[in-house]
Amino acid sequence: MSELSVNHLLGIKYITKEDIDLIFKTADHFKEVINRPIKKVPSLRDITIANLFFENSTRTKLSFELAEKRLSADVINFSAAASSVKKGETLIDTVNNILSMKVDMVVMRHPNPGAGIFLSKHIDACIINAGDGAHEHPTQALLDSFSIRERLGEVAGKKVVIVGDILHSRVALSNIYALKLLGATVKVCGPKTLIPKHIESLGVEVELDIRKALQWCDVANMLRVQNERMDISYFPSTREYTQQYGVNKDILQSLDKEIVIMHPGPINRGVEITSDVADSGQAIILDQVQNGVAIRMAVIYLLASKIKQ
Ligand code: NCD
Repeated sequence: MSELSVNHLLGIKYITKEDIDLIFKTADHFKEVINRPIKKVPSLRDITIANLFFENSTRTKLSFELAEKRLSADVINFSAAASSVKKGETLIDTVNNILSMKVDMVVMRHPNPGAGIFLSKHIDACIINAGDGAHEHPTQALLDSFSIRERLGEVAGKKVVIVGDILHSRVALSNIYALKLLGATVKVCGPKTLIPKHIESLGVEVELDIRKALQWCDVANMLRVQNERMDISYFPSTREYTQQYGVNKDILQSLDKEIVIMHPGPINRGVEITSDVADSGQAIILDQVQNGVAIRMAVIYLLASKIKQ
């Protein structure tokens, strides 16, 4: 297969295993490009991309921008705090105004789940979802699986546990879809209050005991507690959360094997993982960040080649 089955990347739910294989193959190539002395290719010289960030971001925004620049696209950046959204403009009006300046592709992060899906039905541009509320974060899941494949050879057959705030995490949902498509076995682990009811219907198992979960897995993806999405308390205190679900060197050393530790960032050091774990050779957190650029180059490149047709 040489092209994606979709015209937008709205979520992993809407793509196929073949799409992921193609994205990974393309990202392998771009990873080689960004390790060259000249890290740029002229592929997208005729494409203009708008990065619309209605919610805070560090890694994802910089990673998309770098990916776009390394493909030689023209890039404009918009952040909601400094925009007319604050003056009451609707999302469709804001985006249509931007598109009238001849923009081909929109990368959007938005606090509302489904914002990208909604926009894709109303505007005439390719949309990449860079995180929509607690719904999906497809490029994060792609770079996570790509990083597992890089460290362990393949994703199929691997045991992955996603630990923490599963309820409010778009990283969790997108990872579940991607890992299942690629043939991994997935468990989720965290306080019962932060595990959505019926999560088993996605083909994952729930394990409430972190030690058992870590003993079982090849890879543990440690998520941040999404305090900004909580209007009530889901556990008694951060200290108690860390005692029950935090991962430190002692727990890792008590296991019979060396597991891989992942984290999408931003890390709350000392809450979900301690610094000695985050900075250890078992952690592939900075590989994830590095792979993010190659994955985003691949996604943008493949979607742009569909626009040009
Ligand atoms: C995540 C996000 O924003 O969804 N971070 C990221 O994109 N790297 C996870 C988080 O905020 O905890």
